[in-house]
Amino acid sequence: MIELAPSILSADFAHLADQVARASEGGAAVIHVDIMDGHFVPNLTIGPPVVKSLRKVTQLPLDCHLMIENPDEFIPIFADAGADWISVHQEACVHLNRTLQHIRDHGARPGVVINPATPVDTLTEVLDMVDYVLVMSVNPGFGGQKFLPNSLHKLRKLAEIREQRRLNYRLEVDGGVALDTVAEIVRAGAEILVAGNAVFGKGDPKTNAQQLLKAATEATLLKV
Ligand code: DX5
Ligand code: ZN
Repeated sequence: MIELAPSILSADFAHLADQVARASEGGAAVIHVDIMDGHFVPNLTIGPPVVKSLRKVTQLPLDCHLMIENPDEFIPIFADAGADWISVHQEACVHLNRTLQHIRDHGARPGVVINPATPVDTLTEVLDMVDYVLVMSVNPGFGGQKFLPNSLHKLRKLAEIREQRRLNYRLEVDGGVALDTVAEIVRAGAEILVAGNAVFGKGDPKTNAQQLLKAATEATLLKV
């Protein structure tokens, strides 16, 4: 089951509700919200008030990707604002086990994220605690970057581990997902596709979302 999670990072913030509505008409299953603090990543984006406003205009789950230092401090605030899923970076969490538990305790679904330079092995001890694993296929901080293919073997490995250990986490991928990369991404095992530029970059988000989902679904049919 492939799901599309449009990232509002590339949306027109002056018309956010409309843009999200168009993406959802195009088949989006989740709305991906990139939270950046200017410390963990070299960019600043949005915070809890925007999540709170989005909560009022869409029924879709809000997938809050925290690219911030000290995520523990902000987890309750994002959960209160309406985040349904909250993911934190392995690289940002000294006490990752505690942080993931903290997310669940606040009623959100916990996810863990790894940067392109971080091996899958660093997650061994937390894979049974998460609802999803997010593999970054660009270095976080900006939309519209080129897809890094080393994420593919990580997706394959995570799918294999899930089967061996009979775990249930879902596999999400983020960065450079577009019409020309989506087939190999899906064949490597990704189930939730984050796409910013490909959905909101230019043209109509509804048509863009539909085309991307179509390409992704066709690729699964060819999966061996
Ligand atoms: C990057 C963000 C992504 C970003 C993806 O730091 O985590 O969610 O919006 O953008 P595209 O799809 O444009 O690569
Ligand atoms: Zn993201």
